Amino acid sequence: MNVRETLKANAAGHLEIGGCDTLELAKSFGTPLYVFDEDYIRAMMRIYRNTIAKEYGGNGNVLYASKAFSCLAMYAIAKQEGIGCDAVSGGELFTALKAGFNPGDIYVHGNNKTVEELRQSVSAGVGGIVIDSYREADILNEIAREYGVRQSVLIRVNPGVEAHTHAFVQTARTDSKFGFSIADGTALDYTEHVLSLENIELKGYHCHIGSQIFEKKSFALAAEKMLDFIKSVKDKTGFEAEILNLGGGFGIYYTDDDPKLTMDDYAEYLTTLISAVKAKTSSLNLKQPYLLIEPGRSIVGEAGITLYTVGAIKDIVGIRKYVAVDGGMFESPRYALYQSKYTAVKASDVNAPCVQKVSIAGKCCESGDLIGVDIPLPQVESGDILAVLSTGAYHYSMASNYNRNLIPQAILVKNGRAEVIIRKQTYDDLIRNDVIPDSLK
Ligand code: LLP
Repeated sequence: MNVRETLKANAAGHLEIGGCDTLELAKSFGTPLYVFDEDYIRAMMRIYRNTIAKEYGGNGNVLYASKAFSCLAMYAIAKQEGIGCDAVSGGELFTALKAGFNPGDIYVHGNNKTVEELRQSVSAGVGGIVIDSYREADILNEIAREYGVRQSVLIRVNPGVEAHTHAFVQTARTDSKFGFSIADGTALDYTEHVLSLENIELKGYHCHIGSQIFEKKSFALAAEKMLDFIKSVKDKTGFEAEILNLGGGFGIYYTDDDPKLTMDDYAEYLTTLISAVKAKTSSLNLKQPYLLIEPGRSIVGEAGITLYTVGAIKDIVGIRKYVAVDGGMFESPRYALYQSKYTAVKASDVNAPCVQKVSIAGKCCESGDLIGVDIPLPQVESGDILAVLSTGAYHYSMASNYNRNLIPQAILVKNGRAEVIIRKQTYDDLIRNDVIPDSLK
């Protein structure tokens, strides 16, 4: 299956996703609108799961990285597809549990989990907690004692692999707030401490080398470094890790600067990683660990598009043309944060030739509120519907109410059917938690 099979021009030349005409979607649901292609999400979950089955005898699982896009429907799909998930906050854990997710299939992350979040995780019976800081093991040991359980844990390790990606989304450099470093010996020292605690059971290790990565070698190198570390722990302590979680990070297509991967390419990424694990375990004479991966962006990123209505157009001749839309950094924060690049399409005429490069501006009271700059577009006018592509990951999940704008609704499309999965906020939602104290009355 090609990654963009369900995103195409229909007979009228309109952009279609999941069998739905985007102009019709904009008319029925309003804009801005997050649209998610269900088949795409399911296909990506399956490709990873099937690759683990085929290349690694099913000795592992996929954990959907909730942070990319967390809502009840997403967990319902992941559950149906037989994969697990991660959670990096009490809120993500709460949402997954509310969606009926099996707690045993949830792994909890976070470099500074609160005591409440640790309690919430232990009492829910999550499959694993990934210990990420010095204080955590001891706190968790006490909580597990209170609950009368032996909590399974992994330790987050920093393998010191530099991934070729945007600096802000790297998480495993030596200078990182995450995990215990192999290089400075803290990962080994902390392993010995965790092994000494009686109410937590060390199952293995986790690492995550960054996001939006296309370098296959980075993943293989991280896997090899982790296995070298597992071997040195075994030699020093006798403990041999049963679980190896290699995190997420596979890149997706945003613009022609990025490779456009097919489903087979994603399978190949995972196969390369699995081959590295198999070769290294055999050369080091280790058991093949149960393998976990945590893709987020690659599962849901290209599944999503955002529909906007064009409003004001400001052409500063010789300098720049601003095409303003009814969204902005409150629902699409990645340009403001990372200067991310996007592809945009005129929904009424997908095949119209691009004749200009424009900056797509949002409606927030801030100059930096752009959805993207220098985006090639055909001629557009106020009232046209624009689709920005590859917005499924880290858009809704990083949205805010800046300027008290309402977070848009999200719909799921499949075979020409469109269903709301997140309702649009209302003005009442905005003031739901506001309080005027007596002193102000
Ligand atoms: N596991 C861990 C521990 C992570 O920290 C992350 C992402 C993932 C899995 C999923 O990575 P993915 O497959 O989605 O690349 N807000 C940024 C991305 C931050 C990613 C942080 N961690 C962005 O919009 O690009």
